[in-house]
Amino acid sequence: MGERARVIVIISGRGSNLFSLLGAARHYEIIAVLSNRSAPGLEFAHQLKIPSAIFALSCYENRSEQQAALFGMVRELDPDIVVLAGFMAVVEQQYTEEFAGKLVNIHPSLLPKYPGLDTHERVLAAGEREHGCSVHFVDGGIDTGTLIAQASCTVSADDTSETLAQRVLELEHRLFPWVVNHLAQKSIVLEGSRIAYAPGLREEAAEEQFILFPVAEADA
Ligand code: GRF
Repeated sequence: MGERARVIVIISGRGSNLFSLLGAARHYEIIAVLSNRSAPGLEFAHQLKIPSAIFALSCYENRSEQQAALFGMVRELDPDIVVLAGFMAVVEQQYTEEFAGKLVNIHPSLLPKYPGLDTHERVLAAGEREHGCSVHFVDGGIDTGTLIAQASCTVSADDTSETLAQRVLELEHRLFPWVVNHLAQKSIVLEGSRIAYAPGLREEAAEEQFILFPVAEADA
């Protein structure tokens, strides 16, 4: 990919991951920010004059039509990568299939542990010593797609869900742009249901203390 990869970011909320992706865009450019509600994070797109659109549920018959409109726009813009950054909806399988290998999500837990909501509370309740975040390709399940990379932190005895949420969010803001820059360079690719990392990427990840996964031959 000679030119910078074209990325669409889809959000629902405050957009702190969008902000970190905007600031770290070296090998990609964010061509549009889409949302399923009037999300505060859209302000970052407005400030930088990045095209944005809201697909509010109230404008559609049902959630299915809402997604049809949102992913219809994604199709039209034909991006290289589609980033879910706090998109609070389950993507219908027809779109996870259509955009397979391009659609990635960030989740605040060390998947496959703690998919779904309230991860920090559940980690504390379970007495876990370790927590973190995961970036994964999106499939038809909830936080089940092929894992790309993780970043972890220690859970201490005096942590609350707030302190933990803050620590994990800081990891997210480092991990997500790192992954998207590498997807943009095609140094991380999905081959079937396995990830292939370019030679040298494991060393780079180790320096950042990111976790990569068992993998294809290119990496062996
Ligand atoms: C993040 O914790 C992300 O892991 C989860 O939703 C949250 C979004 O936060 N999927 P923000 O909108 O990027 O600040």
